[in-house]
Amino acid sequence: MIKFPPRTICTLFAPLMVALLMACGKGEEPPPGDAIRITIDPVESLVAVTNELTTHFTEETGIPVEIHLGPRSISERLNLYQQMVGSRASGMDLYLIDVIWIGHFPGQFVDLRDHFSRHVSDFFPAIIENNTLHGELIALPWFTDVGVMYYRRDLLEKYDIAPPETWDDFEAAALTIQEGERAAGNPDFWGFAWQGGPREALTCNLMEWFATHGVGSLFNEDGDFTLDRRRATAALDRAAGWIGHITNPDVLQWIELESVEAFHAGNAAFLRYWSFGWGSLNAPELELAGKIGVMTMPTANGTPSGTLGGWQFALSRSSENQEDALKLLRFLTSENSQRKMARAGFLPTRPKLYEDGSMAEHFEPLKTMLLALDEATLRPSAEYGRNYNAFSTLMQRLVSNRLSGAETSEKTINDITTRASLLLRE
Ligand code: GLC
Repeated sequence: MIKFPPRTICTLFAPLMVALLMACGKGEEPPPGDAIRITIDPVESLVAVTNELTTHFTEETGIPVEIHLGPRSISERLNLYQQMVGSRASGMDLYLIDVIWIGHFPGQFVDLRDHFSRHVSDFFPAIIENNTLHGELIALPWFTDVGVMYYRRDLLEKYDIAPPETWDDFEAAALTIQEGERAAGNPDFWGFAWQGGPREALTCNLMEWFATHGVGSLFNEDGDFTLDRRRATAALDRAAGWIGHITNPDVLQWIELESVEAFHAGNAAFLRYWSFGWGSLNAPELELAGKIGVMTMPTANGTPSGTLGGWQFALSRSSENQEDALKLLRFLTSENSQRKMARAGFLPTRPKLYEDGSMAEHFEPLKTMLLALDEATLRPSAEYGRNYNAFSTLMQRLVSNRLSGAETSEKTINDITTRASLLLRE
């Protein structure tokens, strides 16, 4: 059967993405008409497992699948998909969408409830609820995700430090290892790598700082935006204090890729990243394989909360091949496929799989990831709906200013509260 290699999305939708176009290879064949086209994230381990799964699907059904990779930046991906989905010319059938995007594609995706009525209850109810808008099931959950803290197991052992549970102990550990490694000859070593660039990942980090400092719900009983100012200020002060102290100041430009690169290069003791990163961080060919541990987020109030992430497939209303696309969707989200995904580090969206004893054998940190999922904090995508991205962009801008030292935490918290309240009413 024909199997197409993954393409960057620009080969398919060039006119809309001039910038991306520049990154495209020249002279590629136009895609054939009968393949199911899906978009996924350009994460290596995800591309590998998707390739494996779709190969099986094609062997079983004779239906070819084309995998297209979206831009690395989440916001760019959202913008691009919003433009593509409204245009029949894009020819895209299934979109892999973020857990926060449910309100961003009004009327563009097929309601999946009727197609999966007997199976909806097999998925985590909270994710199904998240993915349901005005009674319509916008997307079927593929893998779930949560913010966790990776660490260099070998370095913690070297300095005789236990995985720290509080932010204070965490900072002390990061500094001890940083000073030790610099003295041992690595001037580029920093204690803690994370994502401080003004992108979605910064909003995720911010939600974790708030949650682990006890800020609690961002909304009061009347649904108005409020912040526990004292705790929110403490959280921002702490994060700003990391920069230039235990964190490379370049972090202000970093998204996931750069933070992972620093960790991979052996230049960081701790890395805040996503649960799905376990597979790629520990890939056998990498020098650090086997030297990495993972724990839930350190905390200042006893709640080790990581931000809930995760990805789901949505079927475009303008897909001309909905029947085959539904077959593929059923296949990719099936128990069997999710078991394979879990082995590559992508957490299942079917609770049953967590009860499967053999899962832990194939996926060492399952217990930690489950704990993190249990304590996960949510971004306010349900509250902001189609304005979530505007909310997130606002957070990124204001928090960036604070982190770079251009603003105080107090002023930033005031601005966040005023602006986020206004946005809620729009
Ligand atoms: C991960 C999460 C996703 C989040 C993104 C931010 O992919 O799964 O929910 O929005 O990171 O960069």
